Amino acid sequence: MTNLQNDNFLRACLRQPVDHVPIWLMRQAGRYLPEYRATRTRAGDFLTLCTTPELACEVTLQPIDRFPLDAAILFSDILTIPYAMGLGLQFQEGEGPVFERPLRSAADIDALGQPDPETELRFVMDAVRLIRRELRGRVPLIGFAGSPWTLACYMIEGRGSRDFIHIKGLLYSDPALLHQLLRHLALSVTRYLNAQIAAGAQTVMIFDTWGGSLSTPAYAEFSLAYMTEIIAGLKREAEDRTVPVILFTKGGGNWLEAMAASGADVLGLDWTTELDHARRRLGDGIALQGNMDPIALYGSASGVSVEAERVLASHGTGTGHIFNLGHGLTPHTPIENVTALVDSVHRWPHRKA
Ligand code: CP3
Repeated sequence: MTNLQNDNFLRACLRQPVDHVPIWLMRQAGRYLPEYRATRTRAGDFLTLCTTPELACEVTLQPIDRFPLDAAILFSDILTIPYAMGLGLQFQEGEGPVFERPLRSAADIDALGQPDPETELRFVMDAVRLIRRELRGRVPLIGFAGSPWTLACYMIEGRGSRDFIHIKGLLYSDPALLHQLLRHLALSVTRYLNAQIAAGAQTVMIFDTWGGSLSTPAYAEFSLAYMTEIIAGLKREAEDRTVPVILFTKGGGNWLEAMAASGADVLGLDWTTELDHARRRLGDGIALQGNMDPIALYGSASGVSVEAERVLASHGTGTGHIFNLGHGLTPHTPIENVTALVDSVHRWPHRKA
């Protein structure tokens, strides 16, 4: 058994009793932290940060050193897989990710290789091993990957998109070809997450940022089916502990029961679904993660506490709640409000006693 000083996060994922509601924040390492901006300037660009294990380790630990968070998340990006497949990834200032060679034909999809996690993606596994060493058991480490649908959105569109014309065009004109790509990506993601677990990730999270852009039947067929396949293929025991799986579909609030049937231990929720509503629909057989609006952090520190307590009360005192935001922290978030948030969550429900 790994010697963890604080395993409240892992306990909550498995619906076991906790000392306090655990909290971590999506994008907890990022531009709102001056120490992150300093490391990124030293690195030169974001991709260098992701591909240099010492730098990835340094920025992973920055929020852990600053706030008493209950979990660390590997600093990386979901786009490491298409990067390793040779699509030519660039991060352009103010523009987000752009691929030089997006997938536009059956030949492009046929030509995709299957990156080996310990060679082409070795930098990620080395980062996981280094972070585990440097964490020295303070809190557990979360590994992650993008869902096949969300990866395919970037690989086919070539960049972020509002309407997903290219990938949805393919979905409605040649669904078999899109299935071929998603099947290929499901295998890549399964191997990638299993390698992260073998390297030391103590939980894994699947980010389905764009699943919510689909119709209900298309979500089941083109996103959830592949995430379910991935979860079934994960090795969920390591170091004599269960490795919980978190599934997060942004905008997935209509599909709670279907998502819960994926085999995930935890569902991540965005701020448009109330936690008490989700609990009523799902019962207590699954943990829930979320779901404060990240923009609530732009108000006053006292307003942040009020909103955090509303979210906490919505779930109630039963175990199986991991506090998080409904999506990532944004670059201009005031740091003192993050401090106030973590403090409010850790004091609850004792604050009113
Ligand atoms: O949560 C964490 O702290 C771990 C790090 C993490 C990053 N990206 C770092 C990052 C994680 C888990 C991701 C996942 C990711 N990457 C997702 C899924 C989650 C989500 O946000 O929906 C997606 C869609 C991506 C793709 C991606 N990477 C985009 C769209 C962008 C640009 C957004 C922006 O803020 O400019 C990135 C870049 C990125 N990934 C940054 C960080 C900290 C900003 C890079 C920088 O300028 O320093």
